[in-house]
Parts: sequence; C-alpha cells; structure tokens
Amino acid sequence: MFDKNWKPTLTYPERYEEIGVVDHVLEYLRASNKRDIVIVDIGCSTAVATKQLKNMLDNSGIKNRTIGIDLSQTVREEAMQNVDLFLNQDVMYVDSTLYPADIVICCNMIFYLNHLKKAEVISKCSQFMKDDSVLITNTPLFEQPSDYAQLKLFLRDYVPVMLTIFYNPKRFYGRYKETESIRVKRRMFSFHGKNEAVAYAGRIITSWENLPLGQKFGWYIEMARAQFLTKVRRLKPRSKKRKF
Ligand SMILES: C[S@@+](CC[C@H](N)C(=O)[O-])C[C@H]1O[C@@H](n2cnc3c(N)ncnc32)[C@H](O)[C@@H]1O
Repeated sequence: MFDKNWKPTLTYPERYEEIGVVDHVLEYLRASNKRDIVIVDIGCSTAVATKQLKNMLDNSGIKNRTIGIDLSQTVREEAMQNVDLFLNQDVMYVDSTLYPADIVICCNMIFYLNHLKKAEVISKCSQFMKDDSVLITNTPLFEQPSDYAQLKLFLRDYVPVMLTIFYNPKRFYGRYKETESIRVKRRMFSFHGKNEAVAYAGRIITSWENLPLGQKFGWYIEMARAQFLTKVRRLKPRSKKRKF
C-alpha cells in the first residue's frame, strides 16, 4: 500500500538550498577539487530544484551535466526542460552503467517506503557511483528511538496547513519555520564512495529489524495518517509556488 499508491511529486526551486543538498554539493566540490561533474538526481520530480542547483554551478564556473530520473508521467514535460537528460523511468530499471555520476542525489523520494524497498533504492543509487563519488540523501534510518521523531519533518510538506494545528501547533508561531529548516538540514547526509552507500543500505535493514515493535507499529500509523492527509490536501493545494 505504501509502496505503490502514494507518490507525492511536490518540489520547488529553492528546495535543495533549504534542505541542505547545496551545502553537501559545495563541500564535495571543495574536497574533491573537481570542476567538471555529472549529477544524477533520482526522483527529481519536475527538476526545478535540480535546475536551480545547475544555475548555481554554471554561475560558479563549474562544468556540469545533469541527469534527472523520475517515473511520474505528470512531471515529464517540465523536467525535460530543466535537466540535460531526463529519464522518465523507474530508477530500478535504469542501466546505471550508462550514467556514472560524481554526485548522486536521492531526496524526499523513499522515506515513506518500507525498509527493504528503501535499502534496494539506496543500493541502486550506489550503482551510479564511482569510487570518489558522493551520494546525497535524506533517506532516514530508524536506528535510535529518537529517530522516529524525524518522520514528522519529512511529512510536514505533504499535509495541509490547517490540519497541522492538531498535531503540530507550534508551526503557527514566530520563528518556527527557521528553526525547522535547520533541523531538516541536519537530516541530510552524504556518503562518499560506493562502499559507504552500500553499507548504509545494510544499516537501513538492521536498524528496522532492531526497532521495538511499538515503534514499527507507530511508523505504519504515521504513514497511514499522512497518506490520508495528503489526499485531503490534493483536493485543495495550499500554495501556488509548489507543484504537483
Ligand atoms: C517528493 S518528490 C522529490 C522531488 C525532489 N527530489 C525534491 O526533494 O524536491 C519524489 C519523486 O520521486 C519519484 N519517484 C518515486 N519512486 C520512484 C522510482 N522508483 N523511480 C523514479 N522516481 C521515483 C516520484 O515520482 C516523485 O516525483
């Protein structure tokens, strides 16, 4: 149920700055000293965020080629305008050997899938990588009981504002957004080289297996609630800036 029927395609140009992807890209460029890179953005949606990243690199004199992958038909036309190459496919069926990348991005794409699917996708992401590539992702682990709280951070974009007052009243006050954006940035990771990425896929599985039963159950409840709220929201989009 969670794997097939719920595919939010929401994104917006400033997204990768806000959630910390840009910070990791800059850090990689500084450390590797590369001036000519290939970026593969998996689950890029309309790729407006990828385009913003590309513009930033162009303005800094970094040569780049951007490849976006997304299976959604509705994003096709727009995405084709925003990246150098758009593959309108399920990433699991893309021949990764054709697209070796320096930077692989996989953001907000699979947090709602079960742990086995998550691990499969991260493992697939690693196949686009070379020994000195980086994978930038916010795909969560539930290694510590406290990690469970991060689900709400991922889900916050997918539920209607008015309904959040029932489970997150703070959102309506003062500097909350600013604080939240710092917390979201902390949840962005980068893995250097194929091996690190593959190891992360393994950790996704073991951390779920070690999670107490109550928290596993809580995860399913949280996802069902988010799925329901997402449907409500689709009936009434809350902002013109955001695209479905
Ligand atoms: C919420 S959007 C994220 C967009 C962008 N990465 C961001 O962070 O703003 C998730 C996208 O992943 C795509 N997606 C989900 N599963 C996929 C798969 N197996 N292969 C390719 N794209 C997939 C969906 O179609 C959707 O457009």
